[in-house]
Amino acid sequence: MPTPAVYGNWKMNLDVVEAIHLTQQLGVLRRRSPLEHVEVGVAPPFVDLRSVGSVNEADRIGLVLCAQHVNEHESGAFTGEVSLAMLERLGVRAVIVGHSERRRLYGMDDALVASTVARVAGAGLRAIVCVGEDAEVRASGGEEAFVAEQLRAALGGLTEGARGNVTVAYEPLWAIGTGVVAETAQVAAQNHSIRVTLDELGLEAPVLYGGSVSPENAAELAREGAVDGFLVGGASLRAEAFHAVCRAVDDCYASTR
Ligand code: 13P
Repeated sequence: MPTPAVYGNWKMNLDVVEAIHLTQQLGVLRRRSPLEHVEVGVAPPFVDLRSVGSVNEADRIGLVLCAQHVNEHESGAFTGEVSLAMLERLGVRAVIVGHSERRRLYGMDDALVASTVARVAGAGLRAIVCVGEDAEVRASGGEEAFVAEQLRAALGGLTEGARGNVTVAYEPLWAIGTGVVAETAQVAAQNHSIRVTLDELGLEAPVLYGGSVSPENAAELAREGAVDGFLVGGASLRAEAFHAVCRAVDDCYASTR
């Protein structure tokens, strides 16, 4: 049974002062209402990582420091990019790879997702690999085949050492930032299909859901969607809301497993 996890993807929000503030607020909430079972991480913008990491360590908050993206190369002439070694130096332990916004807006294709996952997971960091269909694919009924193909492309060539360092985040594009949450049955069905594909690839990985997750829907999704946790966008920018989502997963794990 994988450790349940909740990661907050702050996307391009919160400058360094705001990021420090949110981290401190999370520290207060976590001390007041400790989480026992769930791993909690935050993925701030690159420029906030150093400060968030320092506050997290100094105040012993216990968050896993994550990055939203990384370049697939080791170093060199890649203006504007950030390498894995740079992130490791800041204490980053997990990296979101192939988020739909990177795929859609910045041309990150399956091959690039695969090489980035290989670099991250191969270095012993957790690769949080995002997959998910858009509304058109969903309407055609091809969502399970589509996601299975994304998984095979991203994870098919992983080395033995990298295979244990993968988390899958199922984020249907039509549910991201829209307030439209996938129905529990849709999440459960896609989840089942993802696990079949992972099995076929010989991989054991936690499977998360992302897309308009909030304190209002987290408990039901965790309980009945059979997910191992969440990748949270909008709600992770508010300390109370994010902690409530983590709490829901923690409670669910404590009571049902
Ligand atoms: P929202 O929770 O804002 O829908 O974003 C989900 C997401 O993209 C997390 O990576």
